[in-house]
Amino acid sequence: MNIQAIKGVKDILPGEIEVWQYIEDKAKNILETYGFSEIRVPIFEYTELFSRSIGETTDIVEKEMYTFEESAGKKITLRPEGTAPVVRAYIEHQLYNKSHITKLYYLGPMFRHERPQAGRYRQFYQIGAEALGIDSPVLDAEVLSMLDNIIKELDIQGLDLQINSLGCKDCRPGYREALKGFLKDKFPMLCENCQSRMERNPLRVLDCKSRTCKEAVANAPIIPDYLCGHCKEHFDKVKETLKTLKVSFSTNPRLVRGLDYYTKTTFELVSTNLGAQNTVAAGGRYDGLVEELGGPKTPGIGFAIGMERLASLIKKDKFRTNIPYIFIATIGDEAKGIVIPIIDGLRKKGIKVETDYEGLSLKSQMRKADKFQARYVLIIGEDEIKKGSVLLRDMEKKTQEEIDINNLTEVLAAKLMIPAK
Ligand code: HAM
Repeated sequence: MNIQAIKGVKDILPGEIEVWQYIEDKAKNILETYGFSEIRVPIFEYTELFSRSIGETTDIVEKEMYTFEESAGKKITLRPEGTAPVVRAYIEHQLYNKSHITKLYYLGPMFRHERPQAGRYRQFYQIGAEALGIDSPVLDAEVLSMLDNIIKELDIQGLDLQINSLGCKDCRPGYREALKGFLKDKFPMLCENCQSRMERNPLRVLDCKSRTCKEAVANAPIIPDYLCGHCKEHFDKVKETLKTLKVSFSTNPRLVRGLDYYTKTTFELVSTNLGAQNTVAAGGRYDGLVEELGGPKTPGIGFAIGMERLASLIKKDKFRTNIPYIFIATIGDEAKGIVIPIIDGLRKKGIKVETDYEGLSLKSQMRKADKFQARYVLIIGEDEIKKGSVLLRDMEKKTQEEIDINNLTEVLAAKLMIPAK
């Protein structure tokens, strides 16, 4: 039997990769305009980094990490997300000494052993951004506005930015206790998973997709009622600044996240055009994480966009696919020899060229040119060589003209509107 890709992973083939490159280019441009610089961190780290930052009782750490035993009993894990590795690098390289604010972005694969379904993969890609060093609510709004700009630039409709505040280490324990008290009475209604995690991580119950859990938490206490003065003021200022920046949002007092490091502002960008896996991007503030991982007390905020989900929302007619521009058809051996340096010269000028390597008839070569969706075909035969000219066929207009072989590059560059090099 043929070997196939592992369940839950995805090949991104030519035809689709152009969509990804398009997203990456647009996103990089915007991130850099906002002062973010790229960071590349390894795809594996010591397991402890993730268990300490994401939280021992989260689904990711409890059951979704790809973990291997290294020699000497040290465990390593394929990164399930990018925030923890970026914060690890931030501390390790003392980036906090270089500037009062450090803005980093990353692109790359993440790995989670989840049940595969549409929009949920075991290897998936994220574009993430992290801003470390400042705890201003204006920065929160700015980060959200940047995400909003990326979405607008990509012309994606039907997204709802939902925001909430998860409070801080002072006010969240009070909420946790209130929620636990409420859930105790609902215990029989909860799914097995929630019954077992209710004590350890009651906030996760609010996010459970099971029908009975949803019913059970319908009237649960909500976190905004438990925020301390400081967190409430912070959240109000975030909302006010979002309005100033004309970023539309809705508040969702039940929004909780699957990672434990969050404090204060949290958010999800949810699509109305996707199925069950409808969160396209998500993130929030994590003011305790740097300290938790052994660095100085440093606030942080960030988000990650899920590439597969975002790419599925892009209108495919937005850009042309990767079409070779020119096909060179030759008649006879002499022509085949002559075109080798011509092709090389055109490519060096940035003109995409394909040709025939198999000695096909002119008719077959024209068929091949069609398959390549070539915009122009250059026909070079004995007669043309003698005259020092070539025939240029416009495949769209179905017209033909003779051009001087010495002006070939200039004529083609002008037709294809490629700037002269
Ligand atoms: P997350 O909510 O776990 O947050 O993931 C962010 C996004 O990655 C999701 O909204 C989704 O689009 C995508 N994603 C997650 N899991 C999968 C999967 N199995 N298959 C396909 N796409 C997936 C984080 O990862 C945080 N590190 C975000 C963050 C950055 N918070 C602060 N800074």
